[in-house]
Amino acid sequence: MEKLKPVEAKDRIILALDFDTVEEVIKYVDLLKDYVGFFKVGLQLFTSCGFEAAEIIKARGAKVYFDGKFSDIPNTVAQSSINLMKKGIDFFNINAVGGSKMMTNVVSACNSYAKKNNLEQPVILAVTLLSSFGQKTLTNELGVEMNISNYVLKLAKNAKEAGVNGVVAPEADAAQIKKELGEDFIVVCPAVRPDWAIVNDQIRIVSPSDAIKSGADYIVIGRPVTHAQDPVVAVKLIISEIEEALK
Ligand code: C5P
Repeated sequence: MEKLKPVEAKDRIILALDFDTVEEVIKYVDLLKDYVGFFKVGLQLFTSCGFEAAEIIKARGAKVYFDGKFSDIPNTVAQSSINLMKKGIDFFNINAVGGSKMMTNVVSACNSYAKKNNLEQPVILAVTLLSSFGQKTLTNELGVEMNISNYVLKLAKNAKEAGVNGVVAPEADAAQIKKELGEDFIVVCPAVRPDWAIVNDQIRIVSPSDAIKSGADYIVIGRPVTHAQDPVVAVKLIISEIEEALK
């Protein structure tokens, strides 16, 4: 699949557009489309602007990562995934805790729809564990006794077996996932903060350099760029850091 692998350092950047207005989307897409691989449409933007945001991004020749973290019964998620394909979404994610049957159904529904309509299939990723969860919340709230890294790896294995293309996972688990599930299995790392950026509300942050060195194919980053005094300067610094880490 041609879409699977980043070519240049900038292709590895998924920029989170966590905004409420179309005006902000236009502003940042026009400003940054030559410096990032994808623009991320997440729940905040989707619940304010709907698919208009994705349409604006696509109309400017950029790629869309739809971060909906779908989790529902298999049929509902499969049909919703096809709706994303109809909108030309390039990458999207589902939640690995939705279960293997849900993931398998999404993959086969997207496969069939792509074949039938002669479309390129989007890259499907599974979110393992949200970065807002730690061992304590995993065990106390969800009743999962398993060590957090083993749990992330278990969900990643389920995703791979279901035919999903990769996972969204913490940097701490990226190397192990690559080792056990293969180089071609995509790893996307969120909670990325360059050394010069404000941490905001992220916990267990990682630098772009460390994420790439651990094996991340893509990094998700938002406010360090969108809230920077000069977003272009900020994103160029991140590109240089990725280039350096890839050497
Ligand atoms: O602004 P910031 O760089 O913190 O943006 C992080 C983005 O990554 C947000 O859009 C958030 O939804 C997303 N994300 C995350 N942690 C995860 C999964 C996604 O921060 N585990």
